[in-house]
Amino acid sequence: MTVHIGAKPGQIAPTVLMPGDPYRAKWAAETFLDDAELVNEVRGMLGFTGTWRGHPVTIQGSGMGMPSLSIYANELISEYDVQTLIRIGSCGGMQPHVDIRDVIIAMTASTITSPSSGIFREVNYAPCADYALLSAAVKAAANKDAKTHVGGIYSSDVFYAERPDLDEQMVRHGILAVEMEAAELYTLAARHGRRALAVLTVSDHLQTGAALPSEERERSFGDMVEIALEAAFSS
Ligand code: HPA
Repeated sequence: MTVHIGAKPGQIAPTVLMPGDPYRAKWAAETFLDDAELVNEVRGMLGFTGTWRGHPVTIQGSGMGMPSLSIYANELISEYDVQTLIRIGSCGGMQPHVDIRDVIIAMTASTITSPSSGIFREVNYAPCADYALLSAAVKAAANKDAKTHVGGIYSSDVFYAERPDLDEQMVRHGILAVEMEAAELYTLAARHGRRALAVLTVSDHLQTGAALPSEERERSFGDMVEIALEAAFSS
């Protein structure tokens, strides 16, 4: 048990999928895992462990934003020796060719600041995905219905942004989408020699204002979860 995770030693698998939303963790575990068992409910941040095609997998909520994700990822890495961490979650589209329901596989994650920024001082560290996971995810995505994009995303500290000029620069520089967690996940994985990736579903679009109706969210998120699971165990 750690400060924020109540699972006993051995109850967390070496591979963890991390949705921001604890209820999405529950849905994904019930939908995709066999013999899923609740292993954490501290602060309602649900975590489940089961198997997928015989492989042990944990699906643990991370909460929203990099400070929250940092707590769970640090404890999963340092206390439970997790080796592979894949964020699954939603993002806001930032390019005209990116539509809602599309899947984004994040090669890099830019930020203004993250919980790790302080240690880099004047360096603009470039958080990037594990290449083997990334290329396995791209292969897995080829067999799915969802249109997939691979490239850079932006991990923001705010959902309600007050800097339209920043969005403009992100768009100009080819950033595909915005979310709030991946940059810190990639940085922590690099620091500890673990593998990380973010596979995201576009739930809304910053330019067009399009948004996924809530009743459609679960169905559209299925491809993302399958891509994450296939990538984890084929790389
Ligand atoms: N901004 C930040 N995070 C998000 C968004 C957004 O528009 N959509 C989904 N996650």
